[in-house]
Parts: sequence; C-alpha cells; structure tokens
Amino acid sequence: MLTQEEIKQLVAKQAAQLVQNNMTIGIGSGSTIFWLIMELGKRVKGGLFFRAIPTSRKTAALAAQCNIPLAELNAVTNIDITIDGADEIDPQLQLIKGGGGALLQEKMVAAASRELLILADASKLVKQLGKFPLPLDVIPFGWKQVQRHIRETYHVEAILRMEDDQPFITDHGHYILDCPFQHIEHPDILTYDLNAIPGVADNGLFVNMADIALIGYPDGKMETRH
Ligand code: A5P
Repeated sequence: MLTQEEIKQLVAKQAAQLVQNNMTIGIGSGSTIFWLIMELGKRVKGGLFFRAIPTSRKTAALAAQCNIPLAELNAVTNIDITIDGADEIDPQLQLIKGGGGALLQEKMVAAASRELLILADASKLVKQLGKFPLPLDVIPFGWKQVQRHIRETYHVEAILRMEDDQPFITDHGHYILDCPFQHIEHPDILTYDLNAIPGVADNGLFVNMADIALIGYPDGKMETRH
C-alpha cells in the first residue's frame, strides 16, 4: 500500500507528462503540487520548454529553484492548462480549495485557463462538499463584519486562520476565514452569495471549473474523472 505522499507523487508524475513543448501552464499550490513541480523540473532538465504562471509565492520560489521559466498572469493571453490540488472534490467535480490560502490566485489562474486538471489522492473525494471548512479570502479592514454576516446568515462560526499566534496573511495581504459549513447543498448559489459580501475577495468553492481530476489510490491505481 502506498502512503499519501507516494500517491501524490504518482499522480504528479502522470500529470507532468501532459505538459508539451511551448505550452503555457498554470501551476497550483500545495503539497501535491510540490511533487508536480519536482517532476516538471526533471522535464526541464531533459530539454522541455514551457512557461508557467505560479499561483503563490511558494510555488514561484519552488519552480524557480527547478529552473522552470515563470510568467505573470498579466503577461499572458492564453493558458493551455492549469494543474492544481484540491481539499474536497464532489462527484460533479465541484471543489473546495484554499487549504494553503492561495485560493484567490488559484481561481484567477484557473479561470484564465483552457483546462483545469485537479490532482488528488482518494481521501479528497466526498459525496457532498462542506466537511472541509470553506476558506474565504477577506480584506483585513472590517473582517469581523464578514464574520458577523456569516454568523447571522448561515449560523456558521467563521474562524480567522492563524499562524504562529498571528493572523495568517495571504500573498496579497488578506486574511482567511475558515467556515465550517459541514453540508453545502448548492455550491453554485453559495459561491455567488459569499462573493457578494462586501470585504470578501473570493471563496474556496470552485464551481464548474475543473475539467478533469486525476485521483490516486493506495493500491497504486489511478482514476481519471470528468
Ligand atoms: C492551496 O491554497 C490549496 O487550494 C491546495 O490546492 C489544496 O489545499 C490542496 O493541497 P494539498 O495538495 O496540499 O492537499
């Protein structure tokens, strides 16, 4: 039986083979994507040329270490494919993302891509989204108003994400509110409503964005879902 880390490595290896010469790709963030960057680094060493739009400073730093040519989102007009991880994946390929706090850039890069491929181990598959607390990217000025709104509207206690006893700060200087909805019946409606709250930059629901998910299992099998 493979460990979770080995499964992540396996799906990352497979996904890295999809990148072809001269492509522009989006690279997500997180521990699964760490392995993707390692695999892409090997392909760069082997002579493959492509350019990558990173979705976080962490991803940018890792990719640079692997000599992967980087470009900014504003500098490109077409992204062939974005490859990213997820925190929850439902049967319709609706996602919760943002466990690493990079959901804002991840969504912007995914939205600019022709295709979004999600890499995950099978523990991320759920029947219904919501067990994983939904991250909201919020503007620090007045974040408590957003928290109050969530409490009054949904009876959900949004928790300010902390790091070393300080609020976690995103790459854009925002805060993250983690919202334990438990059961999300209508992700399409919820994502729209949450983004309408003043002060919310974006939320971690990725609705109708993923095209393919490559899922790895402990026995080494891989499954492609559309
Ligand atoms: C980063 O902000 C997230 O959206 C990640 O894609 C997600 O948390 C999955 O990360 P892992 O691959 O580390 O599980």
